[in-house]
Amino acid sequence: MFESEAFDAHESVTFFNDAASGLRAIVAIHSTALGPAMGGCRAWTYADSQAALTDALRLSRGMSFKNAIAGLPLGGGKAVILRRPGEAVTDAQFEAFGDVVQRLGGRYVTAEDVGVSVANMASVARRTSYVSGLPPIHDSRNAGGDPSPHTARGTFLGIRAAVRARLGRSGLAGVTVAVQGLGHVGRHLCEYLHRAGAELVVADLDPASVEHVCAQWRATAVHVDDILFQNVDVVAPCALGAVLDEASIGRLEANVVAGAANNQLRSDADGQRLFDAGVLYAPDYVINAGGIIACGLDYLGGNTAGAIAARVANIETTLEHLFETSRATRRPPHVLADAMARELLSAGGTESARRAA
Ligand code: NAI
Repeated sequence: MFESEAFDAHESVTFFNDAASGLRAIVAIHSTALGPAMGGCRAWTYADSQAALTDALRLSRGMSFKNAIAGLPLGGGKAVILRRPGEAVTDAQFEAFGDVVQRLGGRYVTAEDVGVSVANMASVARRTSYVSGLPPIHDSRNAGGDPSPHTARGTFLGIRAAVRARLGRSGLAGVTVAVQGLGHVGRHLCEYLHRAGAELVVADLDPASVEHVCAQWRATAVHVDDILFQNVDVVAPCALGAVLDEASIGRLEANVVAGAANNQLRSDADGQRLFDAGVLYAPDYVINAGGIIACGLDYLGGNTAGAIAARVANIETTLEHLFETSRATRRPPHVLADAMARELLSAGGTESARRAA
């Protein structure tokens, strides 16, 4: 693990095996400098356990950066459940995962991620209180349920900031946007964009989702293999990670890439490639922080609709600042965002050391 390219001075990585339920899980805690490490739990069928570890390492670092830049008093962590091919994760396994989280004693706080639903989190919450993203009536903390509408709202505001910075347009009326992935986030994003007057081109592997979005928000459907390469103003990846690499960047027609998917860049070099090609890229963990803001405020308390909306609105201001600094310093936005996050983490680490002393 220490030699892995994805290792970034993580505080701890724990491997769990529960023989009774068959749960196998990894919890990576990147940093608790700013508070308990919060980040979702992903259930996925990985090629092997090394791939699962790499995912946990990369995603937990992303959560540290995301929480720091969103101004939350939370560190970064992530859990992965290794799903066996063709098998669903059982309720008993989610409960065993709750035991795992409980055993970590509050250093890690979980929530849902890809492959895990709000209902699954309710199973986890039977065994631990270090959990967020629960059904809205779950308990007296008034936990807020599905975070994706907040993620979509933040992404919409981020697209607005990017369009202003790169295209010099003050609103989204008439701006063309290609949305890849019409799941929880993508379909809400389409609604925001349509209401703001944008023209939509969409794709999803699921024909029913495509049909629904096309009918509701007057979108045009294209094949999943073509969505990134449309002649549009903005491409919004809202499906999988690693969609931006040398091959795909070479074929982009849009001047802006701004979407909700985590880990959109296959590698850091691809961020530089976008920059060199004159494409403005909104760093994923900055633009997609709406969901963790909602879950974080749920967990910490103070999760009123107004408080969440105000924090999500800051995403637009943060991106404006990043884009402006990028223009002035000729450095890519993803490099500036990483530097900003590391600075916040190290200031937080110094502060907690001071308090401990
Ligand atoms: P989801 O699983 O509900 O939706 C993903 C959609 O992408 C599905 O409809 C799927 O059919 C589609 N898809 C998969 N491969 C595709 C392809 N090659 N071409 C077109 N469509 C494809 O996931 P959700 O919650 O909407 O999240 C989307 C992305 O945003 C993920 O990368 C997730 O990690 C990220 N994200 C989500 C947050 C949330 O609040 N849900 C928060 C922050 C990030």
